[in-house]
Amino acid sequence: MIDELYSDYYKYSDFYDIFNKYRNYNRELRFILRMTKNKKWVLDLGCGTGTHLNVLENLGYKVYGIDKSERMVLLAKEKVKSPILQADILTYKIDEKFDAIISMHSVFNHLKSYEEFEKALVNSLNHLNNKGIMIIDLDNRKSNDDVYDRVDGNKRHLECFYSPKYNRQIRTTTFTIGLKDFIFEHEYFIYDIKKLEEILKKYDITYTFLTNFSIQKANKSSNRVHILIKKV
Ligand SMILES: C[S@@+](CC[C@H](N)C(=O)[O-])C[C@H]1O[C@@H](n2cnc3c(N)ncnc32)[C@H](O)[C@@H]1O
Repeated sequence: MIDELYSDYYKYSDFYDIFNKYRNYNRELRFILRMTKNKKWVLDLGCGTGTHLNVLENLGYKVYGIDKSERMVLLAKEKVKSPILQADILTYKIDEKFDAIISMHSVFNHLKSYEEFEKALVNSLNHLNNKGIMIIDLDNRKSNDDVYDRVDGNKRHLECFYSPKYNRQIRTTTFTIGLKDFIFEHEYFIYDIKKLEEILKKYDITYTFLTNFSIQKANKSSNRVHILIKKV
């Protein structure tokens, strides 16, 4: 079932690669390869248009992707030969255990609470082999931003409003493609590292909070936080 947000993602999906054209995927991929080392069976949660999966597949990794948006799944299938499933990270069930699970670029920020974070975490740990690695890449910006950018003549205006009371960043993006405007609204749940630790320490895992797609430790002011989890 696609709810309102995911029908919006339907519209956004077609612009996703346009506006991610100059994104530094290489840095993210180097981080993934470094952290997952010899883990060759990889699940990508919220795979979007499938860019990470495409590179991993070409490097000889066995891969599998899931995304809640029907349109993202279709776009990913154009790039990736391996299975891509339309499913929710809260409830997916695949008859496999993976060596590594990755979730890049704020997918877990789309969840609505710490309870949902824990539910998605537990579901994923059930799909991970012992000694398996999981990477959860989170947006941690607690700012009110007003950003304009332009890629090959297409314009994007992102307005973000952060509410500390509700741990949320409300994001309104206006894409101008040719002469047409498309408005996409969604919210990011912004996590507190200490509260995440309380959840993570309940499970048989080791974890660390990194930033900058490096081994640098994250803190509460880091723009991005990558949780690196190892199942014991
Ligand atoms: C910002 S995009 C990131 C896509 C990709 N991982 C990347 O790095 O470019 C977020 C993606 O998460 C997906 N998503 C959001 N919530 C989800 C959920 N509960 N289950 C599965 N996918 C979800 C969206 O449909 C979207 O494709």
